[in-house]
This record gives sequence, structure tokens and C-alpha cells, in this order.
Amino acid sequence: MTENISICGSGLMGSGIAVVFLTSGHPTTIYAVEESEERVREKVQTILEYLVEKELLSISVKNIALSHLFVSNDIQDVVANANVIFECIPEKVEMKQTLFQTLDELCDPNVILATNTSVMSITEIAALSKHKERIVGTHFWNPAYLIPLVEVVKTVNTSEGVMEKTVSLLQTVGKHPIRVNKDVPGFVANRLQHALWREAIHLIESGITDAATVDEAIKYSFAMRLPVLGPIENADLVGTDLTYAIHDYVLKYLNNSPEPSKLLKHMVEENQLGVKSGSGFLPWTEEKKKETEKNLFDHLVKLVKESEKSQVKK
Ligand SMILES: NC(=O)c1ccc[n+]([C@@H]2O[C@H](COP(=O)([O-])OP(=O)(O)OC[C@H]3O[C@@H](n4cnc5c(N)ncnc54)[C@H](O)[C@@H]3O)[C@@H](O)[C@H]2O)c1
Repeated sequence: MTENISICGSGLMGSGIAVVFLTSGHPTTIYAVEESEERVREKVQTILEYLVEKELLSISVKNIALSHLFVSNDIQDVVANANVIFECIPEKVEMKQTLFQTLDELCDPNVILATNTSVMSITEIAALSKHKERIVGTHFWNPAYLIPLVEVVKTVNTSEGVMEKTVSLLQTVGKHPIRVNKDVPGFVANRLQHALWREAIHLIESGITDAATVDEAIKYSFAMRLPVLGPIENADLVGTDLTYAIHDYVLKYLNNSPEPSKLLKHMVEENQLGVKSGSGFLPWTEEKKKETEKNLFDHLVKLVKESEKSQVKK
């Protein structure tokens, strides 16, 4: 079924999510308040052309997608015919609360309102809205048109019907939605990612090894099996008894600080911001940044092509 999609925010995530729906035949309106219509069209077109170049999209679908794209800086156009609205504006809770309050007032109560927040409480974002049952988290990953996962987050107020409709819509556009049954900061995948990140930085801060070696240790070991063997499958494969014995011995030695690392704070204060300033944990040149980004995109395209989720849209 064709749904009218609206997307609030024309940035990295907004334009990427628009491509997901446009390439599946859904008319999509982008609410752009800071960028011209021409600039937003150009961004979407660049992504579509990249997908054509990588043989993930046919030229005819690209052309149809562009003909279904609408861009407006008028909120009335955004709410006019929308069935589902995805919010992709900056990660600032007050800003999101105000936008949801406006959308909630303007839209018919059966319109689904979804937020793409990375880690924030969906309940808090919905605080000023009246029809809280139609507000849901939909956490896409960047680049949204290549990474399949979308975390669909239920608050205590989100209706089961809204959860089901959201999951089903995401499946029909080739995404891999997962249900998150409790609205907790960081949802599922970001909690896992940041648990690893905390220990990675702690190993460097404690002088146990250097920054480059931490990445090497991951890339040349469990990262190789993760695509086919998740940690839970692995616990069962080695045995929950062995997993228990290892946790019983080692967990007390792992970092469990509720604060960000002091090393990280110091680096930010010293303007060691990573690629932005030329050095972070590692030294960066423009060439190395471009090479790293190219490697990442080439890798993701290869995975999408190999995956059962690959939907070469023709
Ligand atoms: N960047 C990522 O990797 C990533 C991944 C998943 C989720 N997210 C989340 O997605 C959201 C958007 O992130 P992004 O990376 O696209 O940010 P971004 O800065 O690239 O884009 C934000 C967009 O919002 C627009 N905007 C600002 N105020 C607005 C308003 N009041 N109404 C409408 N539009 C407004 C800006 O013009 C801009 O186009 C954030 O909540 C972020 O945490 C980001």
C-alpha cells in the first residue's frame, strides 16, 4: 500500500530516510527549514545516483523516486496528506518536544509520528503531545539506505496497532525492523555499541594497549564472526556454563564508570576532535579520511548486495 511519507529535517538522516521511502514508491515530502529546495533535491539525487552507480537501483526507479519527492518549508504541506511522519531534526529534546506538539495539533490522530532520536527517551519527546499513542521511536542507522536495522521503540503509551503498522511499513521498504518493548535511553543497538566503546577507550586510557591496536584486536577477531554469530548465539555455542564462569571471573575487571572517560574529556578540551581537527585517538589526513569513508561504503554496498535484504529496485 502506498503511504504518504513526510520527513522533518533535510540533514544526513532526513535525506537518507527519504531515499528509503522514495525508492519503494512512497511519495515523500521533506520539511526543510534551513536549506533551499534545490539543495535538498540535489542531496537526494546524489544518493540515488550513487545507488545506481553501485547497481543497487535502476535508472527508471531513480527517476520515479525523484518525481515523487516534494520539498517544503511550510509545515502545512508536511502534514497535509501524510500517513506517517519521521522526525529527523537535531538531537535536542526541547526542539523535538515542540515539533511533536505542533505535529500532534495539526495531524489527524491516526497519523503515525515517529522520532529518529539516537538515544533520547521517546516518552520525554512526546511529553507535550496529546495523542501519545501514535508516537513511536524509529531509530535508523546511517547510511539509512544501506543499513537495514531500524529500532522500533514502544513507550508505555504507544499503541500496539501503531507498533505493528510501523514494523510492517518498514518491512515493506526492505528494512529490518526490531521491536524494542521498553523505552530506555540508547534502545538496544546503541547500548551494545557504547558498552564496547567504553571498554575500548578504557583499555587505551589504562595503558593496556594503544588506540590502533584496540581496533586491530576487534577487526581481526570477533568482528569477523559477528555478521553470522551474535553474542547470544555465541554464548549458547560455547555453553552458558563457560559464559558464566568467564563472567564470574572477569566482569569485575571491566570498566563500569557511569561518566564519560577523562581521556575523552581531555581530548575534547585540547581540540583533538578526530578527523575534524586532524588528530584524535589517531592522526588523520584528508586522504586517510576519504580512504576510510570509501572503504566503509564499499564494504556496506558489498554486504547489501550479498544479503537477502538486498532489494535491487528495478
Ligand atoms: N547522524 C547519525 O549517524 C544519526 C544516526 C541515527 C540517528 N540520528 C539522529 O537523527 C536526528 C537527525 O540527525 P542528523 O545527523 O540528520 O542531523 P543533521 O544536523 O544532519 O540534520 C538536522 C536537520 O534538521 C533541520 N532542522 C533544524 N531545526 C529544525 C526544525 N525546528 N524543524 C525542522 N527541521 C529542522 C536542519 O536544517 C537539518 O536539515 C538526530 O536526532 C540524531 O541524533 C543521527
